[in-house]
This record gives sequence, structure tokens and C-alpha cells, in this order.
Amino acid sequence: DLPTIPVIAVDGPSASGKGSVADRVAQQLGFHYLDSGAIYRLLAYAAQAQQVAWSDGPVLAQVAAEMHIQFEAGEIYLNGIAVSQHIRSEQMGKGASEVAVHPDVRKALLQTQKNFRQLPGLVADGRDMGSVVFPDARLKVFLTAGVETRAQRRFDQLIQRGEQADFNTILEDLKQRDLRDSQRTSAPLQQLPDALLVDTTHMTIAQAVAMILDAWKKCI
Ligand code: DC
Repeated sequence: DLPTIPVIAVDGPSASGKGSVADRVAQQLGFHYLDSGAIYRLLAYAAQAQQVAWSDGPVLAQVAAEMHIQFEAGEIYLNGIAVSQHIRSEQMGKGASEVAVHPDVRKALLQTQKNFRQLPGLVADGRDMGSVVFPDARLKVFLTAGVETRAQRRFDQLIQRGEQADFNTILEDLKQRDLRDSQRTSAPLQQLPDALLVDTTHMTIAQAVAMILDAWKKCI
């Protein structure tokens, strides 16, 4: 058997800090990094641009199959155009969560995500990294935090960016997204029995990174 390329799967709810944590773990190990949520955000964005409804599974799957995606030096390109700024909005987060419900869409995006598995290894964050996309991941992490903490972090982030933000609206939106992402039938967010639980409610990003790197050392 060929040795498989190692994967660290980091799954968890919105605004848990998994993006920052997974990215730093990847940097520390010299691994590639996949932000799978960005791919669903790109689809929500592409659909909106083409006036395709986020509820239209079959057509969305076609749009997904036609997307040309590049991640390069912190920027994300859709068909050659830099779009990171556009897909980071709360609206595209909601759109991503809505398009992600459709099984056809998830199927259309599966290989795109698997292609990120390259030497010397990959850290992938999302909702179904450990369950569907990389079920043979060598380390699986469930990274979470209390919903109020996550809402506060998202609120602080928006204020820092100079955007308008209302704490209660953010809290309600997060609760809705948690529900949609964990109750859908296709690849729902779940805490796998073999995943390491990292609850960052009372943790810094650095502490969460250290905990994962520590667990990784015991895996290899
Ligand atoms: O991680 P994020 O907030 O950027 O993800 C946006 C939405 O995309 C999330 O609410 C659900 C969906 N998503 C998914 O269904 N599966 C993934 N692996 C990643 C994201």
C-alpha cells in the first residue's frame, strides 16, 4: 500500500475560530490548508451573480461544477477574479449554509476538496472534513465554543473591520446556522466519536493550536 498523505480534519460550528486555528496549525507543520467553507461561500456568491436561487439544488450543482477556484497567498479567486472580501460577509455565510444543504451541490464539490490533499500534508477545516471528505484523516478535531462566545467574537471582528453590528442579530443568526448545519440530512456537522474535542470558550487561539499540535505528535 502507498502511504497516504496525512490529513488533520478540523470541524466545528460557525465562528468557533477553526479557520484561524487550522491555518496556524498548517503553518506550523508546513502543511497545505483547505478552508472548505470558502468554497461554499464562493458558490453562494457565484449563484447570486448568476441570479440562481440558493434553494435551487440542481442548478446550483451545475454552477458549482463550472467554478474555477484558486487559493493564492491569502487571496481567493473565482474564475480569475479576487473575491475574498465579497465572500467574507455575513450574507455569504448565510448563503453558504443554504447552498450547502443540497446533496447534489456537496457531490459536485467533493473532488475539488479532495484535490487539496497534497504532500507533505493537509489541514482542512469545515463541517464534514472528518466524516465525508477525509474520513481517513489521521487526526480529527471538533473545535467549538459556546454560542454566546462565538457571537461576541464575530461581533468584535465586525466592529474591528469598521462594520455595523448588532450583537443579538449575530447571536440569532449563529443559532440558525448551527441548526441548519447540524440538522441537514446530507453531511451534517457532528462531533465524531473519534474526534478530539477542543472547546475554545476559555481558550486563546494559541492554546487551541498548541493542543492540536500536541495531539498530532502523538499520532505520528
Ligand atoms: O466555515 P464557514 O462559516 O465559512 O462556512 C460557511 C457555511 O458553509 C457553513 O455555515 C456551512 C457550509 N459548509 C459546509 O456545509 N461544509 C463545509 N465543509 C464547510 C462549510
